[in-house]
Amino acid sequence: MEQNLELDFRSDTVTKPCLRMREAMFKAEVGDDYYRDDPTVQELERFAADLFGKEAALLTSSGTQSNLIAIMSHCQRGEAFIVGHRSHAYLRELGGAAMIAGVQPQVVHNRADGKLSLEDIKASLFPASILFAPVRLIAVENTIDGMVLPLDYLKDVADLATEHGLQVHTDGARIFNAAAAIGCPVSNIACFSNTVSFCLSKGLGAPVGSVLVGSAQTIEKARRHRQMLGGGMRQAGILAAAGLFALQNNVSRLERDHARAKELADALSNLPGLTVETPQTNIVFCNVDASVQGKFSEFLKKNGIRVSGTPDRQRWVTHLGIDDVALATTANLLTQMQGNCNES
Ligand SMILES: Cc1ncc(COP(=O)(O)O)c(C=O)c1O
Repeated sequence: MEQNLELDFRSDTVTKPCLRMREAMFKAEVGDDYYRDDPTVQELERFAADLFGKEAALLTSSGTQSNLIAIMSHCQRGEAFIVGHRSHAYLRELGGAAMIAGVQPQVVHNRADGKLSLEDIKASLFPASILFAPVRLIAVENTIDGMVLPLDYLKDVADLATEHGLQVHTDGARIFNAAAAIGCPVSNIACFSNTVSFCLSKGLGAPVGSVLVGSAQTIEKARRHRQMLGGGMRQAGILAAAGLFALQNNVSRLERDHARAKELADALSNLPGLTVETPQTNIVFCNVDASVQGKFSEFLKKNGIRVSGTPDRQRWVTHLGIDDVALATTANLLTQMQGNCNES
């Protein structure tokens, strides 16, 4: 293996800021954001709001914090929000909505394609009663497990929400991947949600941060919740500069990650015992038969290839740290592995 070549497919969160991004951070004009004195934070928030076609935006420390702030801004304690059983906001945020916000998750099963069916959503909208926590919000995730929610489906969810007086929040940690896959501006997706949270620190390559976008009124509420959660920052322009750089330079390249994910899926599918799901964006799921799990894990370890997931269902993520050389190296190693399998 080439020296220093990192074959780290665990997540797009492992990306490191490039030199130009670091220079932008170094040169960032800063001020105390508590007093709204940080020009770079203001620039990022304005830029993000305009990009998403929303009135306002708020820089937050993480996707987890941003989702929680959104839930707190849409729901009061003792109310409920509809959320998918596989979604990050339900499964991987330590129950923060219930624990911190006092908002009950009303869990609906994600279908195989990641959608919450409209019928299931309707079925979970209980009539007004002294018994039921009133549902205020539908939370969707896009992309979800690398899958893109279609625009006509999002419109149906938005229409259903309007009909029942609900808000919609999108956990769009990877919404730019969804937009790249559809081939539309991100505002064409965001228009179906009252709020969208997106991550700067995943495929976009910034070291820290997420942004919540929405109406001016909702974002004002969100700002108070962020403060309450200890997420108010001071000279955060250093981080905002990285976020601005990411939005201005690292969005159009996401298509390359998607193309590489397809190449990777092809290389993996040649190996016996692996069943590979065709990726829609930058995430490849690979089901590994019990008969080859030990051998395959050993092979990956020996060759310094890192993946996430479980031994029987691996997750491979392409990102800006996986260039053509890294991909070709991985594909060659997988071909060698295939040769070994054929011999044995
Ligand atoms: C879909 C989704 N939402 C939210 C998050 C949370 O982001 P963070 O790790 O910045 O808290 C993640 C993180 O992987 C994610 O994948």
